[in-house]
Amino acid sequence: LEYAIGIDLGGTNIKAGIVTSEGGVVYRISVPTNAHKGGEAILERLAAIVEKLQIYASEQDWEIQGVGIGSAGQVNAEAGIVMGATANLPGWAGMRLRERLNALTGLPVVIDNDANAMAYGEAWIGSGRNWRDFICVTLGTGVGGCLIIDKQPYRGRDGFAGEIGHQVIQADGHPCNCGRAGCWEQYASVTALMRIVQESGVDCTKYHNPEEVFALAREGDLQAVELVDQYSSYIAIGLANLIHLFNPQGIVIGGAVTKQGDFLLKRVRQQVYGQLLPVFRELPAETKIDIVPAALEDDGGVVGAVASYFLKKRL
Ligand code: BGC
Ligand code: NA
Ligand code: ZN
Repeated sequence: LEYAIGIDLGGTNIKAGIVTSEGGVVYRISVPTNAHKGGEAILERLAAIVEKLQIYASEQDWEIQGVGIGSAGQVNAEAGIVMGATANLPGWAGMRLRERLNALTGLPVVIDNDANAMAYGEAWIGSGRNWRDFICVTLGTGVGGCLIIDKQPYRGRDGFAGEIGHQVIQADGHPCNCGRAGCWEQYASVTALMRIVQESGVDCTKYHNPEEVFALAREGDLQAVELVDQYSSYIAIGLANLIHLFNPQGIVIGGAVTKQGDFLLKRVRQQVYGQLLPVFRELPAETKIDIVPAALEDDGGVVGAVASYFLKKRL
């Protein structure tokens, strides 16, 4: 086996792990991003994480090939630079991540957008492994995406394609961290779910975090069920848009809500199919565009970030 270090850099947590050439994660750590401390502080955290994982690897006699990072924000993967980031990661835009982290760790570094990395992992050994054309959507602190065409991420001219979280779904809607208003991210992210809870006027002491909302809904708490239905309908608006635009084979949903599985997705599917144009809606059940959870669950970003070290040939 070969080994590499994969890192998934999100607005709330940095997840990292040692990944094998078969896509297994053999050691993992997670630390808060502390995004408010700014870009240089994030870089220092990344270097400290790599050092820690390298020490562990050397104790096991594993040789690390390199580091792969999937970062929230608009990434020029070829240049190794984070070109843009929203207020979810203040001071991160402009970071010459590949060069800087290579200088700090002595290891080769590859970078990509976090949702692209997750999509790469799902295409390699996850829910998308049997699909040529599909869309990955990640619902976490933000909402990210990646369109896989012919097994490869579609990047667009500058590498910024797939910013699906910033499609406006509500004119004059909730202000987004990107500066616009009404972005899908403000309705379908996990952060948004907690705002929806607050705005609904329910007793907020009942629901401290997304897990509690879902746990209570599973127990049949009517308010919680209503909140999950509302949240599902927001997720569905964006997904229906994506299906109309791209007519993919399927959609893979990742991010913090993946663990809710079919409890959430059966609602989302029902809402999506209700909103689609008749030609999509009336597809026979076995050819319906499927909406499935990420098979790699929380590991997708970490695994996908290092895929390029191991995939000498195309998927
Ligand atoms: C960012 C994306 C990122 C997504 C998920 C969005 O706010 O604009 O680049 O992929 O969050 O982290
Ligand atoms: Na993307
Ligand atoms: Zn936005």
